[in-house]
Amino acid sequence: MKVAVIGAAGGIGQALALLLKNNLPAGSDLALYDIAPVTPGVAVDLSHIPTPVSIKGFSGEDPTPALEGADVVLISAGVARKPGMDRSDLFNVNAGIVKSLAEKIADVCPKACVGIITNPVNTTVAIAADVLKAKGVYDKNKLFGVTTLDVIRSEAFIGELKGMDPRDVSIPVIGGHSGVTILPLLSQVKGVTFSQEEVESLTPRIQNAGTEVVEAKAGGGSATLSMGQAACRFGLSLVRALQGEANVVECAYVEARGEHARFFAQPVHLGKNGVEAILDIGELSAFEQQAMDKMLDTLHNDIQMGEEFAAK
Ligand code: NAD
Ligand code: LMR
Repeated sequence: MKVAVIGAAGGIGQALALLLKNNLPAGSDLALYDIAPVTPGVAVDLSHIPTPVSIKGFSGEDPTPALEGADVVLISAGVARKPGMDRSDLFNVNAGIVKSLAEKIADVCPKACVGIITNPVNTTVAIAADVLKAKGVYDKNKLFGVTTLDVIRSEAFIGELKGMDPRDVSIPVIGGHSGVTILPLLSQVKGVTFSQEEVESLTPRIQNAGTEVVEAKAGGGSATLSMGQAACRFGLSLVRALQGEANVVECAYVEARGEHARFFAQPVHLGKNGVEAILDIGELSAFEQQAMDKMLDTLHNDIQMGEEFAAK
């Protein structure tokens, strides 16, 4: 397996590269790419960690050497939020970055599974999909918006609230990856119940957790270390599934069946070719159903913005 991290010199990229160097299966190749000239040096640094994962770093204008032969491409290239900004404020810069990277992927590794971390995810995934489609190589089973951070945050916060080991918490988080479009299904957490008051305070905390980090970092960026962990979890799940492991399930923002929106985050069963099956979101509580109804306009608009950008 070859995994390419694009945006690898950044806050997320370096954390993710470190985790992948330590956790990818023996014999894997890890390729790092970033426009920042330090990137080959980041790879040299990581190469001194004694794990059976080979690593190379590339910088400059052209990601081709990192993308060649990649099975999985994880993209965190782009700008991050500062206090007072919404994720949609990143669109002007990041839309163009994702568009040109998707064009390169179409030319160099059209069969790779691609995980997009770059915000606004609700929109950048739609851009990548339509760019790949225009190039005739789009496979909806191989494009993912990485929403795993919403899942691990939910696990952490529920563990804290209920005095549980967070590693024992399992929760689907559906919808998208911004504000009201993030919907943790607290009603589906096994072995624990939440009062209405807890649901009404925990849901917005999970929805606004990105802003909590942006404000705490006070101008120094957004979540990088927890995101590195989240992207590593998602990337490793994908690699395990591609290698034939059964029963690998993660929530991700994928082109779904269109019941709710063209792209929708929900549990997906991963397999040898990416998405093997999109799983049902199950029964929602009245609170969750109301939140779902409320998010759809925002999600549709975010997706449409990406579709329009890709069509330009
Ligand atoms: P960062 O500024 O630390 O790193 C971004 C990196 O991208 C930089 O090293 C930069 O040189 C590089 N870059 C810019 N243009 C590039 C290009 N064309 N090709 C390759 N590399 C390029 O930012 P960060 O904190 O790592 O965040 C990166 C992105 O991830 C942001 O858009 C942020 O909003 C998003 N993010 C998403 C999630 C999520 O849950 N999906 C979570 C946290 C952050
Ligand atoms: C997050 O959820 O932490 C990321 O999407 C970054 C951000 O801007 O909030």
